[in-house]
Amino acid sequence: MTAAVDVAGDDLVEGDRVELVVGAPAHGGHCVARLGGEYGRVVFVRHALPGERVTVEITELHRGYLRADAVEVHEASPDRVAAPCPYAHPGGCGGCDVQHVAPRAQRDWKTAVVRDLLARLGGLSGERIDALDPTVRELPGGPLGWRSRIRYAVDAADRPGLLKHRSHEVVPIDFCRIAHPRLHELDITARTWPGVDAVEAVASTGGDVTVLARRSAAPDESVLAEADGETSLIAGSPEVREVAAGREWQVPADSFWQIHPAAADTLVTAVLDLLDPQPGEICWDLYGGAGLFAAAVAARTGARTTVVESSPVGVAAARRNLADVPGVEVVAAKVDAALARRRITGPVDLVVLDPPRSGAGARVVRAVAAAQPRAVVYVACDPAALARDIKTFAGAGWRVESFRAYDCFPMTQHVECVALLVTDDVTVT
Ligand SMILES: C[S@@+](CC[C@H](N)C(=O)[O-])C[C@H]1O[C@@H](n2cnc3c(N)ncnc32)[C@H](O)[C@@H]1O
Repeated sequence: MTAAVDVAGDDLVEGDRVELVVGAPAHGGHCVARLGGEYGRVVFVRHALPGERVTVEITELHRGYLRADAVEVHEASPDRVAAPCPYAHPGGCGGCDVQHVAPRAQRDWKTAVVRDLLARLGGLSGERIDALDPTVRELPGGPLGWRSRIRYAVDAADRPGLLKHRSHEVVPIDFCRIAHPRLHELDITARTWPGVDAVEAVASTGGDVTVLARRSAAPDESVLAEADGETSLIAGSPEVREVAAGREWQVPADSFWQIHPAAADTLVTAVLDLLDPQPGEICWDLYGGAGLFAAAVAARTGARTTVVESSPVGVAAARRNLADVPGVEVVAAKVDAALARRRITGPVDLVVLDPPRSGAGARVVRAVAAAQPRAVVYVACDPAALARDIKTFAGAGWRVESFRAYDCFPMTQHVECVALLVTDDVTVT
């Protein structure tokens, strides 16, 4: 069924087509439209741009909203471009969300999303958001060929590919356009992978390339396989060399490292600019990974710096990479447990928080605020989680003093934000 713009949409089913005018972008890689007027049902539309008149195909029905893909464009935005990737279309690869958007307009899109989240979830006024200027900044290197780490899923016919949006279905591909050119040269996608669930490839800033194959633990093999399956090294070395913050790093190919080749240095610069570490200041680097921010801060402070990291490979990497940095201690623990069980205790002057997508959460935020550091820098890969945590900080008397946003993930909906939080209530001892 294809319906006109003003239908309420109560009797729609998946696969139905409706004509719509698309509104503002929202968190999640889609724009918001409404069926049946201003107060009608919300439709989250992928593959469209604000202001466009499109025909959408309904992909999911939910109680309060629908999801849909724009399948025909009747009035195109001036920011619309042809997607550089042939797999970026409705029903195709779900890895990228904004291939159809001009790169400058992708950053405008993400800026609008960050502003909306800071207001709606973070509780910041429009005036305060204007003053913080969360304009998303470009990283060097262009919108393609930046992805230094990629995970291909393997389908039932043993072919590698990337997943459809909100699906476990594998889309076989020749190569991923946003992947680093050194990863295009590998033959991963030209062959089949019997008995393998996923193939991971890394092209490091130090010039190394590593390929790992993962196999889930079968129930009858649990004695041999680790809990999360087995990993075999297909090419390269199990550790790769990364270059960042004026140092060389040896990082296990399967542990966390910033994905965009320019991200580590960009974020280190932002953290140092905002935190302004002074000699003698004590720092916690929470969710520290291999210790990227700890190394940079400790070089300024020359004082005690504590990394808290829960992944065993991350802890081992931090201990090895920071062995030559005086005053650095690496605590193997979950951040909330380390704070609650007083495995790390104050006094502390500076805190770096760089949690995974779920954010630090209220318990960690309250414990950090209670420790009364001079300043907290929050590095966030999910602006919604950041905005929620900003609101918790505000409840404890803290405010956002400075804010930066970076396009560390071009062609996707993702954006990296860095917020400086301060309070006037620090007790001077
Ligand atoms: C976004 S990464 C940041 C790593 C590091 N700051 C960097 O930029 O390289 C988040 C890190 O937190 C770790 N992690 C996730 N949950 C954690 C938790 N509850 N407690 C401690 N570390 C955690 C992950 O293993 C990962 O290394």
